[in-house]
Amino acid sequence: MEKIIEQTREYLKNAYVPYSNFRVAACVQTKDQLYFGANIENASYGLSNCGERSALFYAYSHGVRKEDIQAIYVVTTADVITTPCGACRQVMAELMPRDAKVILANDDEIQTYTVEGLLPHAFDAESM
Ligand code: THU
Repeated sequence: MEKIIEQTREYLKNAYVPYSNFRVAACVQTKDQLYFGANIENASYGLSNCGERSALFYAYSHGVRKEDIQAIYVVTTADVITTPCGACRQVMAELMPRDAKVILANDDEIQTYTVEGLLPHAFDAESM
């Protein structure tokens, strides 16, 4: 876990954050691969993409599917642990198993949740 957090931390430098200057790096873990991403902002702020979604979309773009995913790591340098925004929780509920781990880290601390724990009763295909 520590090693993956270290590797994810490397991707903070790739965040494109001219507006918030807040860097977020993420890593999707499958049985045998790691897929990294960072947050990418836009002058039209709402079009910005969080680090979690960058990593998840990158993994899916490489053929990864829900059942392959064991965990997502989210790393910042904030003083407090950064928890995923609502949009990312919804995307995690669609693209990750509900029992997959969501591992959050800053320089001092690691906290572990699950997709279900962060978004219970999620809206999904079965909700329609
Ligand atoms: N952000 C993430 O990438 N992940 C989170 O979990 C929270 C917020 C990004 C979005 C934006 O680029 C910046 O952090 C400030 O909100």
